[in-house]
Amino acid sequence: MAHSLVSDVTKSVENIILSLAENKDASDSELIYLIEGSDGTSDALLFSHADAVRRKMYGKDVYIRGLIEFTNHCKNDCLYCGIRRGNKNARRYRLDRDEILSCCKEGYALGFRTFVLQGGEDPYYTDDIMCRIISGIRDLYPDCAITLSVGEKSRKSYERYYKAGANRYLLRHETADNEHYRRLHPADMDPDNRKRCLFDLKEIGYQVGSGFMVGSPYQTPANLLCDLRFLQELRPDMIGIGPYITHPCTPFKDFSSGSLELTLRMIAVLRLMFPYALIPATTALGTIHPSGRELGLKAGANVVMPNLSPVRFRKLYELYENKICTGEEAAQCISCLKARVSSAGYRVVTSRGDVKRQE
Ligand code: 5AD
Ligand code: FES
Repeated sequence: MAHSLVSDVTKSVENIILSLAENKDASDSELIYLIEGSDGTSDALLFSHADAVRRKMYGKDVYIRGLIEFTNHCKNDCLYCGIRRGNKNARRYRLDRDEILSCCKEGYALGFRTFVLQGGEDPYYTDDIMCRIISGIRDLYPDCAITLSVGEKSRKSYERYYKAGANRYLLRHETADNEHYRRLHPADMDPDNRKRCLFDLKEIGYQVGSGFMVGSPYQTPANLLCDLRFLQELRPDMIGIGPYITHPCTPFKDFSSGSLELTLRMIAVLRLMFPYALIPATTALGTIHPSGRELGLKAGANVVMPNLSPVRFRKLYELYENKICTGEEAAQCISCLKARVSSAGYRVVTSRGDVKRQE
């Protein structure tokens, strides 16, 4: 029986893609089949269908988000992450409110209408401090979206940030399989709390982004399937994925990084399953391959996130090794990215780039 299931699936790879493209669900074994990939020919087919869906929803538009990495202090000790608290080699920094506002000023002049405040889970930024930063940006830039990416907080904190003017929140679930999650995180981190955060954020009214790493240690195709099913439950507006990339000062230093091919396939499957989603071609993808982001766009991604952090701190926000874009000023980074986006056949647009929901 198992054999006939696999051969049925093998025959219909195009049909699986077509039915996903028509917004029909696929079975677990069909999705696993796409995740595992059969050969280059079906990858090309997958990418071209994903690109067609993306063009139907968003045309050639690529949205830009100005990323401000405002603190690399973190109270967590995630085993994969270079800024984990246990990494005593990391030089730590924080940006204050004025420094963050000046990043926004530079970004606004360059055409950014979304600012993403991303940081480690740093208790220095109390809710009062965060709200002062958020409302400072909100007052100066009423036409911009403010996205937060500061980890797991209480529902009350999320409500306060929202009232202060934040609109969007990024919190990758990292892996939806609780057992796998426990292998990537220390015992004091609870996968169910992370999921609770995501549902709270949605209920409060944020546009929510989740996502996962591809090729993280111990990950199996079944784990990736679990990620897709979790996302179907959550229905986030944004889905950020990138390859796991090893960092020499973490317990996972001997694991190899995730692959370009699998990450691209996952982007394409996500585009087919979530036509409306905002999917970034991530810095991690650009780090594992010189044209990683361009290939990501061609496989269905429609967002890029150039770095607006002050250049003197860039290298210190080192989640993984060899991270790109650490030496370039914001203006250089955005013009480099514009050229990359147009070389891939798309165009950068200056707008808030809100999600286009069908229902
Ligand atoms: N490789 C790739 N991505 C990583 N992240 C953290 N560490 C790594 C790594 N070593 C990702 C996580 C996190 C996001 C900000 O960066 O998914 O949510
Ligand atoms: Fe940042 Fe190219 S995108 S330098």
